[in-house]
Amino acid sequence: MEMLVRPRRLRSSETLRRMVRETRISASSLIYPLFVMDGVNKAEEIPAMPGQKRYTLDRVEEELVKVMDSGVRNILLFGIPQHKDEVGSQAYAEDGIVQRALRYTAEQFPELYRITDVCMCEYTSHGHCGVLCGHDVDNDRTLELLARTARSHAEAGAQMVAPSDMMDGRILAIREELDQNGFSNLPIMSYAVKFASAFYGPFREAAGSAPSFGDRKSYQMDFHNRREALKEALLDVEEGADIIMVKPAMSFLDLVREVHETTDLPVATYSVSGEYAMVKAAAQNGWIDEDRIVCEMAVSAYRAGADIYITYFAKELAGFIREGRIG
Ligand code: PBG
Repeated sequence: MEMLVRPRRLRSSETLRRMVRETRISASSLIYPLFVMDGVNKAEEIPAMPGQKRYTLDRVEEELVKVMDSGVRNILLFGIPQHKDEVGSQAYAEDGIVQRALRYTAEQFPELYRITDVCMCEYTSHGHCGVLCGHDVDNDRTLELLARTARSHAEAGAQMVAPSDMMDGRILAIREELDQNGFSNLPIMSYAVKFASAFYGPFREAAGSAPSFGDRKSYQMDFHNRREALKEALLDVEEGADIIMVKPAMSFLDLVREVHETTDLPVATYSVSGEYAMVKAAAQNGWIDEDRIVCEMAVSAYRAGADIYITYFAKELAGFIREGRIG
């Protein structure tokens, strides 16, 4: 039988398959999200995210040691304050939980690269991502508070800030505030393409940040839209973002690809809490092979064009890469 092209030739051994792999990944591009909370002596399991906990500062050491041991070097901090109010004042308080966590990690784990989520929803009594005017989020007043939050993170030792609020103009507002305060070299990773998504459900339980009324559809994007995603990405490029994020990851990989092709910035994608919860639930039932699913999800994000992958499975993935299961 005459057949010149036989794709199976290149699949005939593990050595050859590895040689011709098109997507290569490294633990250096993984980011691990971590929840820190006010209080003492607590490491609370998050029910919808088995294996993930919320730590008070005096208990976070154990987890950070595990992160270091895994080979992951980048963390994304989320804060859960004891006290929430209308204007989210703990978000920009000098002794806020994230600010203290930054000082602690800078001191105790200087090898970890410190990124912070900049948003109001974990800090406001109403759970929205900004300050309210009636039942609406007041975009421009919120900008001032986001900029103040980003500056206070920088002052406490953040090495990168990641605004996730989806207000218009926030990248420029944060960039200007950082520049005016001596942080012109601090990069901004923008949650530029962030959809109003049911995939954030478990996170909101973890952070106690579900909106007390309404939803986030007046600021997060409608998941039907592709051109609008590019508009948001390009706008943030113009405003001075250094890295563009697409979030969630798994259901939005088409946009990871498009942002990768449309901009010349590094692209990050965030495999969010709902993705993690689905994998864990199915695995606990014995319905899927967790490790292999986690590997395929990660590689698909990179194959789509992601340069950076934010995931609650970061520690496990770093192990899989080290063992040569992927990468
Ligand atoms: C804060 C924020 C959220 C997530 C990251 N930053 C929640 C939200 O927008 O409701 C979600 C992360 C996840 O689900 O893992 N605005």
